[in-house]
Amino acid sequence: MRIGLIGAGNIGRLRANAINRSNSCELAAVVDVDLQRATAVAKTSRGAAYTDYQTLLTSESVDAVVVSTPPPLHEEIVVSALENGVHVLCEKPLANTLSAARRMVEAAAGTGNKLATGFNFRYIPSFRYLRKTLDSGAIGELDHVRAIAGHVGLSEFKAEWEHDNNVVGGGALMDIGIHMIDLVRYTLGEVADVYGMATENIWKLGGSEDNGFALMRSPEGRAATLQASWSEWKGYKFQIEVYGDRGMVQASYGPMRNTLIYTDGHGRRQKKTNQYRKIAVQEKLLGWQRTIEKSFQLEMDDFARYCQDGVCGGTLADGYAGFRAVEIANAVYSSTESKRAVSLSEPF
Ligand SMILES: NC(=O)c1ccc[n+]([C@@H]2O[C@H](COP(=O)([O-])OP(=O)(O)OC[C@H]3O[C@@H](n4cnc5c(N)ncnc54)[C@H](O)[C@@H]3O)[C@@H](O)[C@H]2O)c1
Repeated sequence: MRIGLIGAGNIGRLRANAINRSNSCELAAVVDVDLQRATAVAKTSRGAAYTDYQTLLTSESVDAVVVSTPPPLHEEIVVSALENGVHVLCEKPLANTLSAARRMVEAAAGTGNKLATGFNFRYIPSFRYLRKTLDSGAIGELDHVRAIAGHVGLSEFKAEWEHDNNVVGGGALMDIGIHMIDLVRYTLGEVADVYGMATENIWKLGGSEDNGFALMRSPEGRAATLQASWSEWKGYKFQIEVYGDRGMVQASYGPMRNTLIYTDGHGRRQKKTNQYRKIAVQEKLLGWQRTIEKSFQLEMDDFARYCQDGVCGGTLADGYAGFRAVEIANAVYSSTESKRAVSLSEPF
């Protein structure tokens, strides 16, 4: 598939490397309002460089675009691309408002073109292992989920917009938390109700919570708890634990690890761990970017299959998953105001 990349910043550059390494995609053109950035990234594949995404849509024959601009631009670019007959993979959060996210999903349905959300953590090996373990039945019937995603906050950000509520649509929950919200939903099946609380006592950024807490209930009555944090003083933490009636499985990144505790055929409790030493060494030598690029590459290959066969597959997050994650973060904000649980909308 011929891919146009829109937004050649920190994530766009990694996306370009992943497209260049993918077996199914080729980087045909790059757009950035900063021509130097667009040109530098386009050079990696001898693609064309533009400063306006409309020029890309009208003058290049691309099959799909990857959108990695800041969130407020996602809706306009994604809807334009879909209406121009082009499939889209859009970075997280799908949009900075729930209404924009809904319009994007509706545009995909209305045009028949595909929309995927860049929830690449689903492709990180420890989280793939988690999903596979649940599917295998090793921990029995799923009972509840416990999740945390956090970092130390303001010093982690490269750009001011990353902690601006008007740009991102929230704070920790819409930043690192949105990946974990997606993983909780991916694990639980679906979320029906959310009771939550968002606090901003530390950074006092006016609408960007530094901590978001959610208690979620699945339609079957299963529970999940989640914390997204910008005051994880110990450093980056991204971990999910899933408890079943016969064991539990834990998955984390930074460091990448799994622990599985299960009951064997003789009723004995067993423990298994994965340490991903090769990846740890690779990250020490080459940085975490390699791990993220690899997850982008696997995601691109699934995205290409989705566009060509119309089947989303087991791992790729579609546009609806992106909408639902924004809806869950927004439900925490509403619940903070009302001090009541919030029911999510009916599937559409
Ligand atoms: N998947 C992940 O793990 C992950 C991690 C961090 C950020 N993100 C998301 O990726 C997206 C980009 O984040 P980033 O950190 O690369 O930001 P960035 O600021 O580094 O890059 C954004 C780029 O978009 C360009 N841009 C702005 N307006 C444009 C327009 N109208 N047309 C074309 N280009 C335009 C900017 O010039 C810039 O080069 C955001 O949605 C962010 O939330 C995803």
